[in-house]
Amino acid sequence: MLVINWLDDVIVKSIVIRKILMFLCLVFVPSAWAQQYPVGSDEGIDGEELFAVCGFCHGMQGQGGPALDAPPLAGMEAWYVERQLRAFNGGFRGMHPDDVPGLQMSIASGMARNNATIRNVARHIESLPPGALPELTSGGEVAGTARPFIWRSKYASLEHPQPADATRGKELFQGTCVACHGADGQGNEMLGAPKLTDQTARYMRRQLQYFKDGVRGSNPGDTYGSQMAAFAKVLTDEQAIADVVAYIDSIEVD
Ligand code: HEC
Ligand code: HEC
Repeated sequence: MLVINWLDDVIVKSIVIRKILMFLCLVFVPSAWAQQYPVGSDEGIDGEELFAVCGFCHGMQGQGGPALDAPPLAGMEAWYVERQLRAFNGGFRGMHPDDVPGLQMSIASGMARNNATIRNVARHIESLPPGALPELTSGGEVAGTARPFIWRSKYASLEHPQPADATRGKELFQGTCVACHGADGQGNEMLGAPKLTDQTARYMRRQLQYFKDGVRGSNPGDTYGSQMAAFAKVLTDEQAIADVVAYIDSIEVD
């Protein structure tokens, strides 16, 4: 027990050691694992096994990693996860020079290159229950909320106006977003629009600003992203983004 406690305190809760491990994993694991199963193979890496590496950034229970700008993934639809992994792998997403977190994800997506591996990890993510609490350090603070790297871009310290007006946000949502994301923001697979209600406000505000500015969704190969980007233009200013996200955040789902 003592040894396990020690490992837990020193390795899992020490942010510095986790970052070093993550870096080593990112350098060595993607190529080694990707080579293990060729692109056309019907076999892939086990989803749960692979997720242990994804968890360094996205949280071990898929609850998100705020310091690395990594969104929560738990409960995300498998079809959407698959499409995003293909988008990062194919260079349709995460390649804009302003999108440093997206670039980090693009490197990590190399771990899931063959179809079977992508499917396995996507299914595992969908099976994780959303809403796990953020990881805490031994001092009881949320583990690592300060970014461990320097990111020089307006998106790095994106602060939208406060307070946000969820009532105005509801009007915006019901006027536009429902058409694809559904009345309760539960998404629509036929239209390729993901569920929004398990996402964090911080991540959604940045993505909406990305879509609006062409950082995401402007690559000619990104069919679904470009559809979303067209509608992000409806959000005329930062206040509108803050308002619509405040509304999405307030949606109660049974
Ligand atoms: C180095 C840290 C890191 C690792 C490791 C990592 N990710 Fe990510 N991931 C991110 C970041 C940061 C983003 C957000 C990118 C952006 O803002 O566009 C992201 C985004 C995503 C998204 C898109 C989510 C959405 O709502 O559109 C998916 C899906 C995803 N990651 C899956 C994975 C999987 C599966 C793995 C393991 C194979 C993994 N990630 C490993 C950092 C990481
Ligand atoms: C024409 C259909 C359509 C409309 C209308 C639409 N969206 Fe989307 N939205 C999408 C699609 C498709 C995606 C996924 C894009 C991709 O695959 O990269 C998306 C992605 C998103 C994302 C990123 C989710 C993530 O996990 O990264 C957010 C946030 C979002 N939409 C919010 C909105 C809001 C707010 C509105 C209303 C102002 C809206 N959408 C209107 C189709 C739509």
